[in-house]
Amino acid sequence: MANIKCIGILTSGGDAPGMNAAIRAVTRTAIYNEMEVKGIYRGYRGLVTGEIVPFKTNNVSNIIQQGGTILKTARCMEFMQLEGRKTAYETIQREGIDALVVIGGDGSLTGARIFAQEYNIPIVGLPGTIDNDLFGTDTTIGYDTALNTIMECVDKIRDTASSHERLFFIEVMGRDAGFLALNGALAVGAEAAIIPEIWTEVDQLEELIEHGFRKSKNSSIVLVAESEITGGAMGMADRVKQRYPQYDVRVTILGHLQRGGSPSATDRILASRMGAAAIDALMEDQRNVMIGIQNDQIVYVPFSKAIKNDKPINRDLLHTLRILSI
Ligand code: F6P
Repeated sequence: MANIKCIGILTSGGDAPGMNAAIRAVTRTAIYNEMEVKGIYRGYRGLVTGEIVPFKTNNVSNIIQQGGTILKTARCMEFMQLEGRKTAYETIQREGIDALVVIGGDGSLTGARIFAQEYNIPIVGLPGTIDNDLFGTDTTIGYDTALNTIMECVDKIRDTASSHERLFFIEVMGRDAGFLALNGALAVGAEAAIIPEIWTEVDQLEELIEHGFRKSKNSSIVLVAESEITGGAMGMADRVKQRYPQYDVRVTILGHLQRGGSPSATDRILASRMGAAAIDALMEDQRNVMIGIQNDQIVYVPFSKAIKNDKPINRDLLHTLRILSI
């Protein structure tokens, strides 16, 4: 068993509901296993500036239900430079931290991978992002809550869409990944999802129109993944306005409200299991792996695989969406 006495924990990149549940699980599992825990504030910036606080069990009381992250988060430019990472390593040594748990998305785990290659420090990652775009895990912490938020918002938009008989393009987050758009579209009964994964294969707008779009309906909802390639909801709406001026088109960009709110039960349970698994992994001498979940089993995914940016979208869902929108 690895001789780890002190764990440092940080959250980095975009916040995601369930990060607090993960912080709680990591902290309490580590303390249960007689380790010390140190909370590092503002992501990697806290390692550079030394903003670090000892965590006891009561530091993580009453947070499982809270969105955001009590450790704060940041996208840290200094840590992207060699000099910044050197300072971070010096902080780790000074604080007596033996291993790190990093909760974040692909950018944060990329940082962890580089750091672990340069310095001899065991790091375990937890997939904390609403985007669900990390390879090797069926889902990520925050994704389920964000999907539910999208569903609630779009249900409301549907009321006004149908009253005014309008076509709504609704942009959802995902940073070039279509998971929120595609599954969100299924959840709200949308006419279509415009996603970047199939951008080069088909003109999704033409396909939508060709497939009898609005033939029997007065109003329509289309979810669009944010992305430069899709042009987002604004880009789609502009194209429709120019080519099909008969449609009364509106755009809603859901934006950062998708990242907030109390985590769903699914995200709390996922974050709790993954947080506990991070400590188990470190005790088993694992390093430079992300905790994933596949078919309800915890798995260890090497950082190199997790961040490759090629998590496949389930194409059967696109087909199902098309059938259900006739
Ligand atoms: O990575 C999570 C995410 O919410 C993306 O979906 C989105 O593109 C990005 O963060 C937004 O980042 P910021 O909060 O810096 O605007």
